[in-house]
Amino acid sequence: MRSFLGRDILSLKDFERAEFFRIFEVADELAPIARNRRNCDLLKEKTLVAAFYQPSTRTRLAHEAAMHRLGGHVCGFADPKMTRAGDFYQESIKDTVHMLEYYGDVIVMRHFQQGAPHEAAKWASIPVINAGDGWGEHPTQVLTDLYTVLKEKGTLDGLTFLCIGDMRMRTMHSISYAMSQFDSKLIYVSPPNMSLLPEFKAELDQYNIQYKEADHVADVIHEADVIYMEPVVQPDYTASRQEKADKYDLTPSNYKVTRELLAQKAKSDAIILHSLPRMDELPTDVDITRHARYWQEAFNGVVMRMALLALILGAME
Ligand code: CP
Repeated sequence: MRSFLGRDILSLKDFERAEFFRIFEVADELAPIARNRRNCDLLKEKTLVAAFYQPSTRTRLAHEAAMHRLGGHVCGFADPKMTRAGDFYQESIKDTVHMLEYYGDVIVMRHFQQGAPHEAAKWASIPVINAGDGWGEHPTQVLTDLYTVLKEKGTLDGLTFLCIGDMRMRTMHSISYAMSQFDSKLIYVSPPNMSLLPEFKAELDQYNIQYKEADHVADVIHEADVIYMEPVVQPDYTASRQEKADKYDLTPSNYKVTRELLAQKAKSDAIILHSLPRMDELPTDVDITRHARYWQEAFNGVVMRMALLALILGAME
């Protein structure tokens, strides 16, 4: 297994099975710190720089919370409009990260351009974590998802993941790449204009990933151990920011998971993950069912990022 020390986390495409489990093992080890709402001093000499060019609630704050739990420091920006990258100068990623690399020891970057964190990693002398890049990938979200599945199901093999939503979405790419390392199957349900792109399907075949597509969630939900959801009513992820329109579409029933559908057709132990935020595809009355696991993800997301930061910054091996 490769060392995590000083490593960029840009994609799950190049992650090996043992590397997933090492992160999850360290997450288990560090979890009591977060569970007891304590901070320790494991990373007291390190600083995280958050460079968020797109809005975020969970990803930025979970990284920052993880750093605080480990006794580290945090600086950065959550709105590029207040930086020189977002004003008249439109400062380049290269020039920006040449600055940021002196302000801390790891950069966590979210960007509306696919590949922006990869560009940053080319120029930065410190590790870069991809916190979501356009339609590209969202590796730390999917590490959180898989850690949650492991905690809930005790395994990442022999499962069927039902992926519902926009298949151009970065989480869908990362979870699909991750499945190359596990003996589990994927079922994709998406609107035709948001379905798997031919080039992505070719990649899935190349990685020998077992998958099929379906038109309606009701036809396949009975097969699912993990119901993995994203909205189909959503902003343009290649834009820096998009305000909510006065009028927007409702989610067709093909891509919705309701309490009634779960009661009628889902396995009794199926779990639902949603990276959030949500629209109407996941009504709030599902929250009180035994299937919901998206709130547990809030805790797991901090713990998993504690593990990742501890490994990358050399506090754990
Ligand atoms: N899951 C996720 O990426 O949420 P945020 O956009 O709030 O970071």
